[in-house]
Amino acid sequence: MRVDALVPGLLAIAAVSVATPAIAAGPPDYSMLPPGKGREVQVRVCSQCHSPERPADKRGDLRGFRTLVDRMIRNGALATPAEAEVIAQYLANAFPYSKPLPSYEAPSPAPDNTAKKR
Ligand code: HEC
Repeated sequence: MRVDALVPGLLAIAAVSVATPAIAAGPPDYSMLPPGKGREVQVRVCSQCHSPERPADKRGDLRGFRTLVDRMIRNGALATPAEAEVIAQYLANAFPYSKPLPSYEAPSPAPDNTAKKR
């Protein structure tokens, strides 16, 4: 096989592999965090150490989320008191007790192992 026959194919492969990361790039969308006032502050501050989606499986009221945010500040989160309050309010709106938890498969009922002696 002649080498120059391969070149167009290799160029096509190179073009694809250069283009692919560009498609994947861009800021993560954090789809578990619903839209709401304070979301950008939450994403910025709460991404400093772990995913900002970490509270998505928490449920609480303003008081509870203030406690959580305070605990993260004691962990080292950098936030002004005003930012901390905005985040607590965002989380209380986004994840109230009334909101169902992210759906995990409901466990199937345990098999009926009771021997039926008849
Ligand atoms: C300075 C690092 C840091 C930042 C910033 C940070 N966290 Fe954390 N986070 C931790 C550490 C360390 C843990 C594990 C220890 C713990 O639970 O306190 C944790 C755990 C958590 C947990 C799991 C706790 C549980 O009880 O299950 C949640 C929820 C959480 N963080 C939410 C947040 C939120 C919301 C923010 C933004 C206000 C935030 N984190 C910012 C360090 C951080």
